[in-house]
Amino acid sequence: MRPHHSLLAICSLLGLSASSPTPVPASDTDPVLKNANHIFNVIHDSMRQWGSSLHHNGVSFFLATVPAGTQLYHGTSMSVPVNGTEWLAFEPEHALVFARPHGNRGPPRDRDGDDKPHEGPNHDDLRRRLEDGPPPMDSADPDAHGYLHTYAAAKNLRLLYIDGMSAGKTEKGTLDSQDILLFNNSLGDGESEGPGPRGERDRALRACEMAEDEWAGRIDGVLRMEAGFEIILCSFARDLTPLRIIQTQSQERGDKGPGGRDAGGPSKGPGGGPGGPGGPGGGPGGPDSSRWARAVASRYEGIGGRRVHIDYDNFVTAHSHDLDLFPESSTLPRLNHLESSKLDPVRKEITETILTHDAREFSWDWQATTDMVITRYADELSYFVSDRMETMEELRAQITMLVAPFVDYSERNITMESERCAAQFIPFQYQDAPTLPARAVHGVAFSICHTLLEAVEEENLAAAKELIAQLMVKLDWTAWKKCRGCLDSEICVVPIWPMGSVGDYEKPQCKDALSPYDRDGENYWGGHGPH
Ligand SMILES: *[C@@H]1O[C@H](CO)[C@@H](O)[C@H](O)[C@H]1NC(C)=O
Ligand SMILES: *[C@@H]1O[C@H](CO)[C@@H](O)[C@H](O)[C@H]1NC(C)=O
Ligand SMILES: *[C@@H]1O[C@H](CO)[C@@H](O)[C@H](O)[C@H]1NC(C)=O
Repeated sequence: MRPHHSLLAICSLLGLSASSPTPVPASDTDPVLKNANHIFNVIHDSMRQWGSSLHHNGVSFFLATVPAGTQLYHGTSMSVPVNGTEWLAFEPEHALVFARPHGNRGPPRDRDGDDKPHEGPNHDDLRRRLEDGPPPMDSADPDAHGYLHTYAAAKNLRLLYIDGMSAGKTEKGTLDSQDILLFNNSLGDGESEGPGPRGERDRALRACEMAEDEWAGRIDGVLRMEAGFEIILCSFARDLTPLRIIQTQSQERGDKGPGGRDAGGPSKGPGGGPGGPGGPGGGPGGPDSSRWARAVASRYEGIGGRRVHIDYDNFVTAHSHDLDLFPESSTLPRLNHLESSKLDPVRKEITETILTHDAREFSWDWQATTDMVITRYADELSYFVSDRMETMEELRAQITMLVAPFVDYSERNITMESERCAAQFIPFQYQDAPTLPARAVHGVAFSICHTLLEAVEEENLAAAKELIAQLMVKLDWTAWKKCRGCLDSEICVVPIWPMGSVGDYEKPQCKDALSPYDRDGENYWGGHGPH
């Protein structure tokens, strides 16, 4: 490969100067280059349960399309099709959690507008159930049942995907991008304050209002993630074809019902009783939830089936703005310390993106590109810093092999070599006119290649390893937290609100799929809201 004429342009864009051994300068001021590692991970984590669970605070917004015909699920106490605004799950097991008689817990929720009739149980019920355990026996009408609705998208659904674990009702920052950025702290008053479950319907109604008023009817709903991906769809009647409604198994039956049903007694299964150490109020236990856990884990690597198409060429991320998103050296981004007006440029960009782009237009699959980078380097980097790498000679030999395709042995130059090594991942047309994802991917690939080439020049092994270890901390790839070699009876467990422990976050491990979340260990999510 001969160097391309645009190389200089790219180098100057990267702020590489002849005298500078490391590509520092421009990255100090240009947020895209400074945050290339974060933007790269945003792309890589999108629509994946694994990465979005670990990097659970999203600050990015994508245009997403769910193709017509895609089947979606809704659980409720109602046996007639929904017409208004409600929640949809991509996996039936997720919806099944809500397919139960309306409980009496909490204040009644009937503040919904007249055009949006109260639909009975909705996601508020999940919040209550997860927080308080299922409603007590005496509140349930024996003739009441749960229903699982199956719908098909009647057209290509145009959605705003809010990344991270944006449906997790936590105080750890999972709701910042909605409550603070998108909704400008305008959500609710009094009863719905805080990230508690009560705010959920307000969020849905507010998003649908924005879809109409600010986004010119170009958005049909919002796509978010909790223990499974979900859609808040503004008009079921307009956008869905009902396929079937079935009555679900009664929860009253069977002594092995969902764990913690008898809140006072010893509960079987994970996260049973309220307030147990396995979770604040515990997760759903029992057979249903173990099926749910399997269903969730099956989407760790992606929603699958091309059920969601993302426009990666035109997305909005707070990381590309000049904002301090990591206050007090927080490892995940927060927005709650920022003055609201500072977020106006991001809000403006969201509206502009929605008004000028259509998620169906062709875009490069930058997620596939991030996969290519990670599958190329993840294992080798962690091997290089491991104890199995025993001598500098060995490390040097391995890195030399790794970078060989990019070294012109007639003219050694680390900058040029790193540039060639980084450019291998960037489609040619994006090298001349780099877009946000192209710049982020390039920035990450460049820093990997450059660090390795620097490491080769180190005299001693510890120093070389230290360079690579620092790079790995910066890259923060969730691939390095994946379990290896789980049995077919196990799943790799990571905290997914409201389940999981601090230990599960730090070192996810293979655990029995029937009881994936154990009750010991400090709950990762801690307290979460006034409710
Ligand atoms: C290495 O390449 C860069 C980019 O072309 C150039 O600016 C720099 O002068 C070269 N360094 C050396 C030592 O030749
Ligand atoms: C939705 O509309 C249909 C047709 O008008 C009606 O039969 C059904 O009861 C409505 N669903 C709800 C939940 O009100
Ligand atoms: C956000 O809310 C503040 C305070 O209510 C208001 O002054 C500001 O105009 C709002 N910004 C936008 C973009 O709506």
